[in-house]
Amino acid sequence: MPAPSFVDLQSPAGSFLDDVLRGLGSSPKAISPKYFYDARGSELFEAICELPEYYPTRTELALTRDCAADIAAAVGAGCLLIELGSGASLKTGLLLQALRPAAYVPVDIAADALKTAATRIVADYPALPVIAVCGDYMRPLMVPALDGIAARRLIYFPGSTIGNLTPAEALEFLRRARDLAGSGGAMLVGVDLKKDPRQLHDAYNDAQGITAEFNLNLLRRINRELGADFDPGRFRHVAFYDADAGRIEMHLESLVAQTVSVGGRRFGFAAGERLHTENSCKYSVAEFQQLAQSAGFAAEKVWVDAEALFSLHLLRN
Ligand code: AVJ
Repeated sequence: MPAPSFVDLQSPAGSFLDDVLRGLGSSPKAISPKYFYDARGSELFEAICELPEYYPTRTELALTRDCAADIAAAVGAGCLLIELGSGASLKTGLLLQALRPAAYVPVDIAADALKTAATRIVADYPALPVIAVCGDYMRPLMVPALDGIAARRLIYFPGSTIGNLTPAEALEFLRRARDLAGSGGAMLVGVDLKKDPRQLHDAYNDAQGITAEFNLNLLRRINRELGADFDPGRFRHVAFYDADAGRIEMHLESLVAQTVSVGGRRFGFAAGERLHTENSCKYSVAEFQQLAQSAGFAAEKVWVDAEALFSLHLLRN
């Protein structure tokens, strides 16, 4: 049985605690959304993707299916396909069939999801070399194992994960992705589009409360892994669209004045005080193309679904 190979770039243990302490000590309080995805968080996110209100996942999946042949025609066969934040690699199958890459490199910080996905891909495509890289793709990625592979690179970054970054952060990230792509390389990015604010609001305030659970699970995770004493019952999920900033913001709002202890330190929350947990930036096609061009990419192609909910951009270095 062929097996994927693994490269572990895991960031040093202790950075979760450091980040949480720094985030709770700053004003306003904030914690990075990358910490949503422990096993329970990944499960809740998969449930979000099935929600009637949460249009991005199913729209991107259908869009990718519909334009896979166009993408393959633009990219050409035999590329080195590098997927950032691959998670369960759900959309990848469509691309693998159309692109026929020379090798597939899923990169994710969640080791378990990465291993499961890489093993499944190898079972489905036994002839495809799979090099799974466990690490934080928000940091510069140095993977010596890839240096020997001469194929042109396609960096695949689906799911509108780029929306978690502010436009300034996204610009920095795109510049680094361009370095990783190399000359003549390309990037395929899924980007959620600006749309009716009510539809955006509903996508992050679902009727079943799964998104609220997903947000509150961050506190449960901090309790589990860092021995903190958050009472999730004393916080509520808040998500709203800020039209000026063009983004959804998620927060956890303290329902009462309270003190929480994490790693031996105590943090006070005023009643109504918010802990900022996520930005989800939305772009028009033109805005995102502008950003990509500022990072030095050429905006080669863009595909949008019939309802103009979601975009897939092919950028060329
Ligand atoms: C995985 C970052 C694309 O912003 O829509 C879903 C995460 N947060 N519901 C998004 C998320 C709340 C999601 N991304």
